[in-house]
Amino acid sequence: MTKAPRILGIGHYVPEKVLTNADLEKFVDTSDEWITSRTGIKERRVAAEGEAVSDMALVASRRALESAGMTADDLTHIILCTLTPDFFCPPAACILEEKLGVRGKAAFDLNAACSGFVNGIETGRAFLSLHEDAKVLVVAAESLTSRTNWKDRTTCVLFGDGAGAVILGNAPLEGAKHDAAIQDVELKSDGAFGHLLTVGGGSAAPAKLGEIVDERHFIQMNGPEVFKVAVRSMESVCREVLERNSLTADDIDFFIPHQANYRILDAVARKLGLPAEKVCVTVDRYGNSSASSIIIALSEAVHDGRIKPGCRVLLGVFGGGFTWGSAILQF
Ligand code: ACO
Repeated sequence: MTKAPRILGIGHYVPEKVLTNADLEKFVDTSDEWITSRTGIKERRVAAEGEAVSDMALVASRRALESAGMTADDLTHIILCTLTPDFFCPPAACILEEKLGVRGKAAFDLNAACSGFVNGIETGRAFLSLHEDAKVLVVAAESLTSRTNWKDRTTCVLFGDGAGAVILGNAPLEGAKHDAAIQDVELKSDGAFGHLLTVGGGSAAPAKLGEIVDERHFIQMNGPEVFKVAVRSMESVCREVLERNSLTADDIDFFIPHQANYRILDAVARKLGLPAEKVCVTVDRYGNSSASSIIIALSEAVHDGRIKPGCRVLLGVFGGGFTWGSAILQF
């Protein structure tokens, strides 16, 4: 095993509460048939009352630490990728640090919407190149159902909650259960599309004391426009990293795309020439859990034994901003 930035441990968590399409039919003007045929989603997970992003991140982080055979004391940096933090301030990463029972780390939140996790591992790689002995926790956690407008049937059927985490370091651990080199990462963004997917409430249109919060404070999306750009962008960035590494679809054992909609991930996989059996899918069970979707899918496939040592994995993400990116992992 060569010395390179790598994943030393991996874990995930999804809340217990399941919201099925049949449950949604009871209070939203929709149907299981419509949701399934347009999105591939059958059910999603919903955080319990009072269960914040830092709580979900805590469980995923502990599982990643356990899989690396490490404790939180071993960490140097904590990066929490989320667009739904517990509060504007303090950063959810600092709340997580406290819940992990440690102090004096470098903890901060990172918001690149649904592309957060790949931005997180690239940021983690930067710390690893500056600090030889760094051990970086990159955790993505989202409570999208807390920002869902249940009166907007065009968006409320799509989203779910969950968390996933990895521990990054520069050298492989002795006897590690899970180990993957981060072979390459590419990140992109284009703010010109920002208005197509928004969650308000920030300084551009702040909630005023005593004012009723309206739909601008919840997820708003022009789904068909997002769909078109998502397919185009994910395909092109995945192609770019493949070509840069002299790889083709045949060299990829598993493709893990952002789990927004089955039609999106299927279209991207087809365009890249990747057959369905190489594509990891969780969107049917968890819906779109934004930044955490890709790491939950990766963690599931590692822990259930589909991804084994020797496997090469291609990641592709896309989200609000717009932001998008790709990475190659060598297990
Ligand atoms: N149930 C029943 N009917 C519905 C629903 C619903 N939940 N939502 C919309 N409809 C209706 C519309 O009102 C419309 O009816 P009309 O023709 O009478 O006006 C009809 O269904 C078609 O609506 P469209 O919006 O054109 O449906 P489309 O096939 O484009 O599917 C969808 C909508 C699923 C949102 C799709 O555009 C999509 O998935 N877009 C990408 C969104 C996405 O994945 N974003 C996330 C990427 S970034 C991130 O993860 C944050």
